[in-house]
Amino acid sequence: MTPDQMEAGAERLEALAVRRAAQQQGDSGGRSASYARAAVPGEVDVTHGRILYLEDVHVSFDGFKAINGLSLDIAPGELRCIIGPNGAGKTTMMDIITGKTRPDRGTVFFGSTIDLLRHNEPEIAQLGIGRKFQKPTVFENLTVFENLELALKTHKGVRHSMFFRLDSAQKDRLAEVLHTIHLADAVRRMAGVLSHGQKQWLEIGMLLMQEPKLLLLDEPVAGMTDEETVRTAELFLRLKGQHSLMVVEHDMSFIAAISEKVTVLCDGAVLAEGPLAQVQADERVVEVYLGR
Ligand SMILES: Nc1ncnc2c1ncn2[C@@H]1O[C@H](COP(=O)(O)OP(=O)(O)O)[C@@H](O)[C@H]1O
Ligand SMILES: [Mg+2]
Repeated sequence: MTPDQMEAGAERLEALAVRRAAQQQGDSGGRSASYARAAVPGEVDVTHGRILYLEDVHVSFDGFKAINGLSLDIAPGELRCIIGPNGAGKTTMMDIITGKTRPDRGTVFFGSTIDLLRHNEPEIAQLGIGRKFQKPTVFENLTVFENLELALKTHKGVRHSMFFRLDSAQKDRLAEVLHTIHLADAVRRMAGVLSHGQKQWLEIGMLLMQEPKLLLLDEPVAGMTDEETVRTAELFLRLKGQHSLMVVEHDMSFIAAISEKVTVLCDGAVLAEGPLAQVQADERVVEVYLGR
């Protein structure tokens, strides 16, 4: 992409921001909050070797224990896969980490100093935890470029948005993200005409624009073609190290392609943890998959 194209995109977006201004009144949903850019670039303290730490977390819904003594931790730069039968509590765990659901009790820390239970959903997004939901939720009537640009500025408010211009670091970041998500050739296309897999990548790109430290991805390859799934595996392998990732997925060929350590959740707690081959050979794991 040339600087001119960048500029043209920025100008189109300004016009669009004016049109959207009326619509955006009162629109303060959690979804846009999750695109908020990290306002405090301060480092997360990972001197204890953990970027995420959950201990003995419990949540009940009307007496049903969805999360029941869950403890796990993730190392900086790790790509952790989470598997488990339907209803195991995987999505609820992500809801807790991102502040969408409050646990009844337990400990949830980001690094060794940030108590996530003391922060709300937008604050947690700003601290550097990005979340990708199951369904892609890109803006279909905007181009790929505009979607990525929007990810930088959604929370800054309409007034600021109208005068928003990408600085050179942001332009570099945008070009880098476009390349990472395999959409450099589609920068001018409307998001609405992208394939399902491309939309998923675009949404991941929108998260990456905010340079999250930890990315939570819930069933990212569901509905993708085999080829898209392979490319997504490559993408995640490229992201690990720079980012920490927690990936919930049912597709075992995908898990096999990306996994180091796998955590098996069942009935709201960790049933087994280790290399994929090890957990697959675990009798208790075999039982919960066959027994349901
Ligand atoms: N808001 C809620 N209210 C009531 N029950 C819920 C709620 N969220 C999740 N559950 C229940 O908690 C259990 C775990 O759900 P979930 O975390 O979605 O599992 P998974 O993502 O592993 O399939 C399920 O039995 C689900 O029905
Ligand atoms: Mg789920």
